[in-house]
Order: sequence, then structure tokens, then C-alpha cells
Amino acid sequence: MPQDERGGLELDLENRLIGASYAQEDAGVEMSLRPRTLEEYIGQERVKDNLRIYMQAARSRGEPLDHVLLHGPPGLGKTTLAGIIANEMGGTMRVTSGPAIEKPGDLAALLTNLEFNDILFIDEIHRLSRAVEEVLYAALEDFALDIILGKGPSARSIRIDLSHFTLIGATTRFGQLSGPLRDRLSIPLKLEPYTVPELTAIILRSASVLGVPIEDSGAMEIAARSRGTPRIANRLLKRVRDFAQVEGDGIVDEGIAQRALCRLEVDELGLDSIDKRLLGSIIRIYGGGPVGVDTLAATVGEETITIEEVYEPYLLQIGFLNRTPRGRCATRLAYEHLGLAWPGEPPERAEQLSIEGGQAHHL
Ligand code: ADE
Repeated sequence: MPQDERGGLELDLENRLIGASYAQEDAGVEMSLRPRTLEEYIGQERVKDNLRIYMQAARSRGEPLDHVLLHGPPGLGKTTLAGIIANEMGGTMRVTSGPAIEKPGDLAALLTNLEFNDILFIDEIHRLSRAVEEVLYAALEDFALDIILGKGPSARSIRIDLSHFTLIGATTRFGQLSGPLRDRLSIPLKLEPYTVPELTAIILRSASVLGVPIEDSGAMEIAARSRGTPRIANRLLKRVRDFAQVEGDGIVDEGIAQRALCRLEVDELGLDSIDKRLLGSIIRIYGGGPVGVDTLAATVGEETITIEEVYEPYLLQIGFLNRTPRGRCATRLAYEHLGLAWPGEPPERAEQLSIEGGQAHHL
């Protein structure tokens, strides 16, 4: 699988407008739109409430913040939040990613350059190699590096003391993180998809930073189609702004947002033609499912991992897809959204629901 320059899986599909993964195109705009304080950061209220307490407590003890794990789907603001933590704790943030740290020596170089209270942000931390992870454990726990010099019987170990720093690890795959690493990142924070009102507020803020004239109704229209993801919202805002400038009066209102997003083939729920092809295949070819993910991948000509990581999360989230032990099923909501007649629960799914219902009853 090819890698992008941040070491991430490079999925062509993620070039689509509503892909949540980071694209190079997002770089400039994300930097300029990033809130710098918790006050400015919209949404994730529970995470913010807890973080405020941990930061205030650490500051009043004169200590760096304990190590943090940010997890959740892509595009929800993990890097942004890490930057806010660094800013509010008064440290400098160094940014790297799991796959970019190839050897223990790469990690040693990063760690020995950190000063008291600095933040080391490791994106995709689940992709660290075992050898690098082992070195990281002592650094996190004892703020020290054990380096082995030489090989065989003459090998000896030296210990290098490190400044007290805070590691912030980010991952979209909490389950792939090793137990020892999870234990050492003692502040786990889970980011959730944003609500439409939160995304509307983010779009209004972004428009104000970018100097784009916008009406609330225009922001709401874009928010509803942004799949719970600020990165997508900001990307759609930029595209709608182009339409407003060329085909409208420059103001992003509901009408121009609807027209632009229709032209961009992003529907009222944020689905694009690829999502519809996937759901359409389950319904038309496999009678609504269940169909195994490998079979489905072969049918639509994609890799299984692409189906699982790119298409499915949002379709599951909005209840258009069910994962059953026998495979994927399209739901009634999916049929209705595509304007197709709902044939009723497939027999196996109906059976499973009745077993689940029965168990619930006995509990
Ligand atoms: N831009 C991207 N994410 C944001 C957030 N959560 N709050 C404010 N602006 C943002």
C-alpha cells in the first residue's frame, strides 16, 4: 500500500471531497483556521471540561501535563487539540507520526531535543514499530532513554536523562494500540463526531476567519452535509465559496450552498456517488444483505480495508448499514434514502433481532 508523506495509508478515495482523511490541500487552510485556545474550540464539551481540569491542576503543581491519548475518527481535530494543549501549557509542540519514526535512534533524536513542558505529538501512534515502542516506554515512565551500545557480550547500556515532557498520541484505531502503551498514556480522550449545530458554528467561525460572507442558513446547509467532521465542513465551505463568487453574489446562503453541493454530488446527508454505489450494490445485487465485506469489496472493485476504514464508518454512524456476523446489511433508512422500497428485515437479521430482544427480556 503506498504511503503519503505523513506516513498514512494513501487511499485514492480519500481525494474525494468528503473524505475525512488529511489531504495536502487542507494544510494551509487548517493551519489558519485552527483555534488556539480551548475557549475558541467548538464542541467536544466533555473532553474540554476534563482537559481544563487536568491542565489547571498540572499548572498549579508546576508540572507538565500527564501523557495524553486522543482517539476517534479522522478529521475531528486531534492535532488541533494537541496544539491547544501545548499553547495553554506554555510548551512547544513537535509533530511527528508513528510510521515516520523508523528506528529507536529517530525517537532518541526527537526526545533528547525536548525541553521541560514541551509536547511531543505522535500521530497514528498505533503504527509505531515494536522496537521503537519499547524505547518509548522508559521515556514515558522514567523520562530516561536506555541506549544499548554494541552487540553480544561486550554490549553495554547507558542511560540518558530526558526533560519532563508530555507525549500526546493520536490514533483512529484505539483497538490496535498495545496494552503497555495504552497504560502509559494516562489521559485518554475520545473525540466524537460533531452535531450539525456545532458544525454550523465551526463553519461560521471559519468563514469569519477567511473573510467569507455567509448566512446562518448557508452554514447549516453545509454543516448537514459534512459527515460530523470539521475537516470536511471547512473543505466544503471553500468549494461553496467558489460557487458563490462565480455564480452568485459572493454570499454563501442556503440556495448557493444547495446548488454548489448538488453540483459537487454531495447529497443532503453528505453521501457521494461512491457511498451510493456501495449501498446500491448491497441492495440490488445481494438483496440488501447480509453480504461479506470481502465479497462486497470485490463487487465494487475496492480493497476490504478501504471499505472498512473509508466508506463504512459514516454509513454505520447514520444507521444506513448494519454489521452482522454474516455480513453487511443495508437498513430501511438506506432504502428510503435511495428511494427504494423496503422489503422488510432479511430473515437472518430478523431472527437475530428477535434473539437479542429475547435476551434483553430475560435480563
Ligand atoms: N476548526 C476545526 N475544528 C474546529 C473546532 N472544533 N472548533 C473551532 N474551529 C475548528
